[in-house]
Amino acid sequence: MDNLDWQNLGFGYRDTDYNIRCYYRNGNWGELEISSSNIINMHIAATSLHYGQEVFEGLKAFKGKDGKIRIFRMDENAKRMQFSCEGILMANISVEKFKEAVLLAVKMNERFVPPYESGASLYIRPLMVGTSPEIGVKPANEYLFMVFVMPVGPYFPEGFKPTDLIIMRNYDRAAPQGTGKYKVGGNYAASMQAGKIAKNQGFSAVLYLDSREKKYIDECGPANFFGIKNNTYITPLSDSILPSITNKSLMVLAEEMGLKVERRKVPFEELSTFEEIGACGTAAVISPIKGIYDADNDKWFSYGTEPGKWSTKLYNKLRAIQYGDEPDNYNWVELI
Ligand code: PLP
Ligand code: COI
Repeated sequence: MDNLDWQNLGFGYRDTDYNIRCYYRNGNWGELEISSSNIINMHIAATSLHYGQEVFEGLKAFKGKDGKIRIFRMDENAKRMQFSCEGILMANISVEKFKEAVLLAVKMNERFVPPYESGASLYIRPLMVGTSPEIGVKPANEYLFMVFVMPVGPYFPEGFKPTDLIIMRNYDRAAPQGTGKYKVGGNYAASMQAGKIAKNQGFSAVLYLDSREKKYIDECGPANFFGIKNNTYITPLSDSILPSITNKSLMVLAEEMGLKVERRKVPFEELSTFEEIGACGTAAVISPIKGIYDADNDKWFSYGTEPGKWSTKLYNKLRAIQYGDEPDNYNWVELI
């Protein structure tokens, strides 16, 4: 631990000291429990193992220049987890309990929150799994909610350096009326084949088109999509993408900076008109995009090899709020 290279953490799993657990039994959540084991015991017929009854979240804590730890938009993650739980019929957890568990997980692992200078952060992974046995396809009646944390660097190794995306029409991550809007494990399983092909060919992620018509931009494997042109921030409106909290925040900041904001269907053809493209998310932050390869038509869309003006401004502003360098005018940050 003492020799952690904070500047070069990458985005990978790392053990920390403690995790938090809470069990749902007989219709009620129990007390939060602190564990120092990274192992859970589960019934072989648990619904999470067979039928994917699993939801998760991702959020981050940041250490400021003042040494204080800030957690970004925890309420939003709590509400989205509730939304995901409702989506696949899991027990629901209150915003208060979610926040209490996150705060405790961060406090118990305080020594793993990367120092301000490193530009790294503490990634917080809450998750819930159905634990009781069923062999028919139906929801469990017992659940385990957990929170674990780890220090991380950028999700895409290039960080704020532009990378490329690939479009492949023969893969979908979510069905038109399916679970794409929920943060459930199954969506990520569905994205692995295409994700691997993309990685192997040197792309940082797949850019998915809507799965019904392949006419509109949806999102990337692990992040939302935005494009900027004519002083306008444009991001897809779609029922099958994850409602990104980073994107929601960027829309507010874009407007504050004087950009127009449009959340609407984004036709594929519009890709050739953008001045800047970004992939945004908790793990990805903003990952500027320099090129999009349409593999089916062997055609490239290019956006310049340096991060664009607006993407840079948005990135700097978001990070400044997260690290406490600039005032938190929207109450997005909770101090520990
Ligand atoms: N889209 C997908 C599929 C994701 O997994 C994520 C990551 O959480 C995002 C978008 C970005 O969402 P957020 O900004 O809330 O992290
Ligand atoms: C996040 O940004 O928090 C994510 O969940 C993305 C990814 C690690 C799947």
